[in-house]
Amino acid sequence: MSAPQREEWNSVLGFILAAAGSAVGLGNIWRFPYIVGKNGGGNFVLLYLLIVFLLGLPVMYLELAAGRKTKRGPVGAIKALAPGSFWKFLGYLAVITGIAILSYYGVVAGWTIYYLFHSIFFGFESGNTSALFNKFTSNGLLQISLLFIFIGITTSVVFFGIKGGIEKISKVLMPLLLILMLGLIIYCFTLPNASKGLEYYFMPRFSEMNTNTFIFALGQAFFSLSLGMGAMMTYGSYLKKSEKLLNAGFVVIIFDTAIAIMAGLIIFPVIGGAPEKASAGLVFVVITDLFTKIPGGQLLAIFFFLLLSIAALTSTISLLEVAASYLIDEHKISRKKATVSIGFITFLVGIPSALSQGATSFFTKFIKIGDKHLSFLDSFDFAFGNISLALGALLLVLFVIFKWKFQNAKIEIFRNQEDKLWLSYILKPLVLFAVPAAICIVLGFIIFTGKTLS
Ligand code: TRP
Repeated sequence: MSAPQREEWNSVLGFILAAAGSAVGLGNIWRFPYIVGKNGGGNFVLLYLLIVFLLGLPVMYLELAAGRKTKRGPVGAIKALAPGSFWKFLGYLAVITGIAILSYYGVVAGWTIYYLFHSIFFGFESGNTSALFNKFTSNGLLQISLLFIFIGITTSVVFFGIKGGIEKISKVLMPLLLILMLGLIIYCFTLPNASKGLEYYFMPRFSEMNTNTFIFALGQAFFSLSLGMGAMMTYGSYLKKSEKLLNAGFVVIIFDTAIAIMAGLIIFPVIGGAPEKASAGLVFVVITDLFTKIPGGQLLAIFFFLLLSIAALTSTISLLEVAASYLIDEHKISRKKATVSIGFITFLVGIPSALSQGATSFFTKFIKIGDKHLSFLDSFDFAFGNISLALGALLLVLFVIFKWKFQNAKIEIFRNQEDKLWLSYILKPLVLFAVPAAICIVLGFIIFTGKTLS
């Protein structure tokens, strides 16, 4: 009996655009510029770049290599590389984390669609954006419907598979995203307060850096690069053996980092200085309010929310694909059934998050830490978007060190590019020491101080 041919990306460009699509998301476009602003501007950018290349890149390569070597997502990959070992829990952790992140990410992604339509049909009113946001997020039925719609769109792309769904849509949406961004940057540079904003963005401020800065930078790097839960492993599993993984992974990292930095070139000229407050919802309040005050603001708003929706969609696709491919590969369920059932489960898991932004006080004030309340959405983001990703990345590195062995990972990473093998002398100490040490420090810090990454 021969197994049906497993799907593959049509071209390495298709893989790069899909993987970059996964990486480029809400994390880049809102969270990154804002964190830079809060954590020392230019210094933080430098620190972030160091972390991306010294810690993110090695993990990216290990994930892609484990995926391509085994042609499986996290559960199957671990099973294939270490049959019967207890390590398989790492695979399940990845699948669960994917569903959990998608469940709340889908809520915020739903907001981008609503704001897109709102900016097209009604525009925003100065001074009223905070009230609008509160009214909007506390409308439980609307929140659940938007979650349903966004997960529905995500499901319908994943439904059509790798070539026909994910690769196809990434090839359209990613160039569109780039064009939109470039257009927005050029326009935002002409705004009256652009130079003040950019100064705030890039000017180094050593006084604002502390131990938290490092933690923020590491957490942001993993989240932004979609690492720690097998998303890149799954995408890597569809990469042909004949392609150059080393190059492709590098391009994905550059792409993600460039888009994050570019996002600040839009946000800060609009803000024109330091961002006032700090929370994910703020993009919907502060930025929309500023849009009402600048020339061409309504059109700008439309393109900005279109940009956010696209970035969010290519990310949610990758989150769903991890769990869907698990059912397809390990339980031999058809892709169509797998995607629809995972989509539906994620929607159900997401309902408490959808109701946690004001709709019900139980989910809105879900956990009390000190005198602060954490919503269900924030709690999930903390548990899965921060801790679980860091843990997943750490365990993956330990798995490679103790079980799969760096030597074997190396062969897969440098396949078709043996001339670059000398780079493994840099990669090896990073994998063996730098990455595990850095993640242990961060995890230890979070556990002992109770501080969150966001
Ligand atoms: N990287 C995406 C962002 O920046 C979010 C994301 C998509 C993600 N897939 C992931 C994060 C997998 C962690 C793991 O918004």
